[in-house]
Amino acid sequence: VTSKAQLELRTALGEAGWITGIASQPYTEDWLKLSANPALGVARPNSTEAVADCVRLCREHHIALVPQGGKTGMVLGSVPGKPEQATVILSLERMHRIEHIDPIGGTVCVEAGVVLDQLQQVLGENNLQIPLHLGSSGSAQIGGLISTNAGGSHAFRDGMMAEQVLGLEVVLPSGDIWQGNRALLKDNAGYALRRLFCGAEGTLGIVTRATLQAVNKPADITTLLLSCENLENALALLGLCRAHTGKLLNAAEFMHAVGVNWVTQHCRDVSFPLESVPPYTVLLEFVSPNAALQLEPIVDHLLSEAMQRELVSDGVQASSEQQRAAMWALRESIPEGQRLHGRQLKHDVAVPVAQIANFIAAASAAVQNIMAGTLVNPFGHMADGNVHFNLSPPAGADIEFFERSDAFNKAVYDTVVQFNGSIAAEHGLGRAKVALADRVRPEVERALMRTIKAAIDPSGFMNPGVIVHMDNDSH
Ligand code: FAD
Ligand code: MLT
Ligand code: ZN
Repeated sequence: VTSKAQLELRTALGEAGWITGIASQPYTEDWLKLSANPALGVARPNSTEAVADCVRLCREHHIALVPQGGKTGMVLGSVPGKPEQATVILSLERMHRIEHIDPIGGTVCVEAGVVLDQLQQVLGENNLQIPLHLGSSGSAQIGGLISTNAGGSHAFRDGMMAEQVLGLEVVLPSGDIWQGNRALLKDNAGYALRRLFCGAEGTLGIVTRATLQAVNKPADITTLLLSCENLENALALLGLCRAHTGKLLNAAEFMHAVGVNWVTQHCRDVSFPLESVPPYTVLLEFVSPNAALQLEPIVDHLLSEAMQRELVSDGVQASSEQQRAAMWALRESIPEGQRLHGRQLKHDVAVPVAQIANFIAAASAAVQNIMAGTLVNPFGHMADGNVHFNLSPPAGADIEFFERSDAFNKAVYDTVVQFNGSIAAEHGLGRAKVALADRVRPEVERALMRTIKAAIDPSGFMNPGVIVHMDNDSH
C-alpha cells in the first residue's frame, strides 16, 4: 500500500514536491534533537490544491500526515510521532508568497510558508510590522506561528498570534478547502472558526493562507539592559513601568545568570555589556508611535525612581540600532546557549505575574530536593507571567539526572498547578505534553477537545498523537 501511495503522491506533487530517503532526513529531526522517527517522504506542495491532493491521498491510504513549518517547535508536534507508523511530513516551505499588503487597513495576506523575518523585512519597507517578536523568527513560518498560537515578547500588550489573525484558508482533513481568508476584524457569523485553528498544532487541518493585522512601526525605541539583585526587584520594576509608561512598554524580559553565562560561553558573537553578570538581568523596551511623544523624559523619570528605590544596581541603554540588536541577541540566545550546553528538561509555564518570584522559589526548592546542584535556568516574558523554567544536570551527573526526569517534571508542574498557572504557556502541547494535560487539566476540557478532534478529523490521520490521544491514533 505504501509504495502505491508514494507513487501517487509523487505523481500528484511532482518531482520538486516529493522527497524521500536521505534527503528527507533533515525534516524528521526536531530543534531539540529529541526525536528522529522516519517518514515515508516529505510532501512539498506549492499550492493549496496540491495540499488538498496530498491530504486526500494520505487519508485514503491511512497514512499519518504531519504538517511542518520552520521546525522550531519545542514539543515534538512537527515531526513523526512513532517509528512504526506510516507518516508523511507536509512541509509548507514552497508556499512563501507575500500576496497583498494593505497599508490603510493595516493587513497583509500571505501563504503559510512565509518566514516571519522575511515578512517583517517586506512590511518594514511599508513602515509596517506584525507585533510578534520571538527568537525563532529567522525560521518560524506564519503557518507554524498560527498553529502554535505563538506568544513571544509583545504578547502581554498585543496578544498572541491568534490576535493577529483576521482570516484563514485551511485544508480540512476531508480534503475540502475552507475559504475563511477574510480581512475582517469583525466577523461574528457563528462560531469563531478561525480561532479554532490557532493553536490546533496541525491536528484539525493545514493552514495554507492567512490575513494578518499589521501595525505601524514605532517612531522611537528605547532599549535597556538592567541588573537586578533579585526577582522581587525585577517585578517591582515592572510595576513601575506599567505605572509610568502604560502601552509604551514594548517588552519586559528577564534572564537568570545561569542562562546568561551559557550564552557568553557557547554563543559566538554574543556578549554581556555590563561589568558583571547579576543574579537577574532585565531587558526593557519602550516605543513611541510618534516623534512628538519623546521617550527620553519618561524613561529618565522611571529610571530615577527605580534607582531611588534601589530596584536596579547597574544598567545600560542602547545608543544605536546595533546595540539594541545585541541586547535582543543576548536574550534570544538563551535557548540556544542552553541547547549547546547539553541535554535539558524544558518547562514552558505561566503563573500570575505577581507570583513569578514565589513560583520560581518554590519550583527551585522542589527540584533541588530531587537532586541538589540541579542547574535552574528561569527566564522569559515577565509581563505576562510566562516563565521558561529549564533544567540542566549538575556537571558529570547526566545519567542520574535524566533517570529522574519524571520526578523533576512532576515537581515543576505540580508547583504550577498549586499557583493556578498553565502547564503550557506558549509552546503548546505537541506530543510531549499530552499525558501531562490529561493528568492536570479538567476532564471536561480534555473531552471537549477529543470531541472537536473526532468531529473534524474522524479518521484521526491529521497529526495523530498531538494535543489529544484518540483511539484511532495509530490507524
Ligand atoms: P513547526 O515547529 O514546524 O510546527 C509547530 C506545530 O505547528 C506543529 O504541530 C506542526 O504540525 C504545526 N504546523 C506547522 N505549520 C502548519 C500549518 N501550515 N498548518 C497546520 N499546522 C502547522 N514560541 C513562542 O511562542 N514564543 C517564543 O518566544 C519562542 N521562542 C523561541 C525561541 C527559539 C530559539 C526557538 C527554537 C523556538 C521558540 N519558540 C517560541 C517556539 C517556536 O518557534 C514556535 O512554536 C513557532 O510558532 C513554531 O513555528 P514553526 O514554523 O517552526 O512550526
Ligand atoms: C524563548 O522565549 O526564548 C523560548 O520560548 C524559550 C525556550 O526555548 O524555552
Ligand atoms: Zn518564550
